[in-house]
Amino acid sequence: EQIEKGGYPHFMLKEIYEQPQAIRDTFRGRMRENKGMIKMAGVDDHIDKFINAKRLVILACGTSWHAGLVAEYIIEELVRVPVEVEYASEFRYRNPVIDKDDVVIAISQSGETADTMAAMKLAKEKGAFVFGVCNVVGSSISREAHAGAYTHAGPEIGVASTKAFTTQITVLTLLGLKVAKAKGRISTSDLHMHLEELRLIPEKVEEALKSNDHVKEIAEVYKNASNCLYLGRGFNFPVALEGALKLKEISYIHAEGYPAAEMKHGPIALIDEHMPVIVIATRRGHYDKVVSNIQEIKSRKGKIIAIVTQGDVTVKELADHVIEVPEVMDSMSPLLTTIPLQLLSYHIAVMLGKNVDQPRNLAKSVTVE
Ligand code: G6P
Repeated sequence: EQIEKGGYPHFMLKEIYEQPQAIRDTFRGRMRENKGMIKMAGVDDHIDKFINAKRLVILACGTSWHAGLVAEYIIEELVRVPVEVEYASEFRYRNPVIDKDDVVIAISQSGETADTMAAMKLAKEKGAFVFGVCNVVGSSISREAHAGAYTHAGPEIGVASTKAFTTQITVLTLLGLKVAKAKGRISTSDLHMHLEELRLIPEKVEEALKSNDHVKEIAEVYKNASNCLYLGRGFNFPVALEGALKLKEISYIHAEGYPAAEMKHGPIALIDEHMPVIVIATRRGHYDKVVSNIQEIKSRKGKIIAIVTQGDVTVKELADHVIEVPEVMDSMSPLLTTIPLQLLSYHIAVMLGKNVDQPRNLAKSVTVE
């Protein structure tokens, strides 16, 4: 097992550090930046389904559901078609309104999650075209889908999902761009720009990983917190949910993710000097609005840990701690902002002496209801 961990103390840390390569492996062979082309056989073979779909419905559980939420923001923006993201466990038991005009995307790292499997079977029965996004090759969900695309993250052993999340977002970004191109919703030059930006992501993830030591210092300060609040807006709202989930899963600290503006309708009541609030405040994502959310937290004495774009000045003056990530187009920022949040939960869990790779009560893949 020590050999499998490749010199890292835990699989989770190894998998966090594998993300630049995992993302590269996921887009390798699929992008022709110079020609503005994306090759995904599973989409190419059924492009009419995607072009004519009245709606996309994404089904998933856990971290994969969060990747689905990011995809909702990305695909709606690019393709201009409504996208719904459903917990597979809810979808399957409510006689969902779905038919042959819908395209369903089932996202699952393991490809074995019982609820996701049952939900996609139901969607198939009702006539929908089902596309699978799985990591494990030959898994049940990948076989049950009409077509699909694999993430090429490699084996993910840590129960808390990390590289599966970022590679799912990568595949779904490619899918969104491809369908947008097929529907004439994106110009060749814009597509080219997106692909160039995506090609640079692995290097930027490397850069984001350099925050590790700084994140560890922050973990030391907050490791005894009993609650944490995570806030983000737009593309980074799902990242706030995912950051909170990571902390809960492995450190057993209660954490909640919220859309930053929704804070005033509830969570703000919890804020005092004992409440760490992690805010994603990157420059292109509703920056001014997030800055005013930060001011609201500060005036209630909350402790602010902000994820900012390199070179940020304004938030730096307000926050107790800032963690920088490289500049990137807004829709791809989840691929970077999620990195320090993974590291933060990892370090806190290690400092608290928890079993990082196999947290209590959780399973890597939930094959029963
Ligand atoms: C379990 C795992 C999570 C995972 C979820 C969905 O709860 O502990 O890490 O996100 O299942 O798994 P899937 O394999 O379908 O992505």
